[in-house]
Amino acid sequence: MGGNRQLADRLAAAGQGHLIEVLAHATPADAAALTAQLDELDLELIARLVGQFVGHDEVASAAGPLAPPNAVPLARGPADEVRDRTARAAGEAALRAGHVGLVLLAGGQGTRLGFNGPKGNFPFGPVTGMTLFAHHAAKVAAVRTRYDADLPWCILTSPANDAVTRAAFADAAWFGLDPDSVRFVVQGTLPAVDSATGQLLLEAPGRLALSPDGHGGLFLALRRSGTLDWLADRGVQTMFTFQVDNPLTSIADPEFLGYHLGAGSDMSNLAVRKREPGERVGVIARRGDQTIVVEYSDLDDATAAARDAAGELVLWAGNVATHFIEAEFARRLTDDGLRLPYHRAIKKVPYLAASGRTVVPDDPNAMKFETFIFDALPIARASITVEIPRAAQFSPIKNATGSDSPESCRRDMNRLYAGWLEAAGVVVAHDDDGEPVDVELDPRLALDAADVRTRLAGHAPIDRPTALSAPWLATRLGDADLAR
Ligand code: UD1
Repeated sequence: MGGNRQLADRLAAAGQGHLIEVLAHATPADAAALTAQLDELDLELIARLVGQFVGHDEVASAAGPLAPPNAVPLARGPADEVRDRTARAAGEAALRAGHVGLVLLAGGQGTRLGFNGPKGNFPFGPVTGMTLFAHHAAKVAAVRTRYDADLPWCILTSPANDAVTRAAFADAAWFGLDPDSVRFVVQGTLPAVDSATGQLLLEAPGRLALSPDGHGGLFLALRRSGTLDWLADRGVQTMFTFQVDNPLTSIADPEFLGYHLGAGSDMSNLAVRKREPGERVGVIARRGDQTIVVEYSDLDDATAAARDAAGELVLWAGNVATHFIEAEFARRLTDDGLRLPYHRAIKKVPYLAASGRTVVPDDPNAMKFETFIFDALPIARASITVEIPRAAQFSPIKNATGSDSPESCRRDMNRLYAGWLEAAGVVVAHDDDGEPVDVELDPRLALDAADVRTRLAGHAPIDRPTALSAPWLATRLGDADLAR
């Protein structure tokens, strides 16, 4: 009973007194389940977040003019190419030494795409129907082979998609990777509250409505699960973090790594030049001597549209959400709990009403709280941003149709792969609009234009949808596994 009294006091103090009533009327099993959940919850944190956000618009980040970030721009001439080659050599050396770990962010809910299940299971391959997970895994294998290094791979999941994600890997025999070289890390959750009252919402009797705590949860998840130690035991000093939705990612790109290491950076960023002021990407910017990312939703139109004397956008640096992060920095960030600010999002969350009925709201009714990985940037001792050519490295799948969709990604992939093949002298058919036929390259066969030149020069013309894979793969994995 003492425990119940204590819990009731904690609930009352945190402004969640309505749950005392709920617990009093619940079945013993529901009451026990809910009590267990509440015991795990940092009620003081929830009270702080409710005080900060409920009834207020999101607090604007500290004022002050925004400037472009410290960046390495795209090479514009021979001197820049020498610069890039030097960085590349440094990155390659670190990769060969096995100092790099790979971290895939795949804990999100992917609601915008309208795909049921982890986004990594989305079959995006235009010819093979290959999934995003299979594609990333093939790239990881290819990069490991190229540098003859272990490069351990962590996959950030959330409680909602962890089991399905593990099953996808197990069913496909880890896509040919050594299971001991892959580790799943489950991020934490935070409860949703009623956006008007700040009261914790129940999803079912005895169960709070919980959602992933945002990709900033990566840091705590890595720390608490012992993964930072696991990585350290494998010689990892630097982590490459990338998003599940961008199949064009150049995993552990050596040039980017060279710039990161050369700048003594704690956390570095990739940027693409924004297409237009309103493009829905975050912008990487500088405020005073800090690097920050400002989400598109937090950037006013005039600031987003400001141009410099040459007519270029001042805030040109679209956030690709791909980083190198020092493992030591992740440790520092989590030495004393998580040192990141929280953001709030207003969403539709079905909930159990006091009447005992489940309400499926028509309008957003709930507030969720998240932390973002890029909010670690202002805490970093140094940070550098590297500009990449969009066509070669960035075409995320976020929406069901239109821009950043499976269709736009397929077009970008066809153009990229056809370009590599044509540079190697292979004839690729184009349709009446000038678009190349569907062509898929297994990363284990070719990671880039140079691989295509050495391995596919002399290939017969490609005049119909074609998937090219390494000949040994079919025997080792079976065609079915490739397509999964
Ligand atoms: C994100 C960036 C944006 C950037 C864009 C580029 C944020 C808030 N914004 O936008 O600045 O320009 O990508 O593509 O991230 N994830 C988790 N756990 C979570 C939430 C997300 O692992 O709790 C993962 C997702 O699985 C996904 C990635 O993080 O791989 C991005 O999440 P998403 O919510 O899709 O971000 P965007 O709004 O697309």
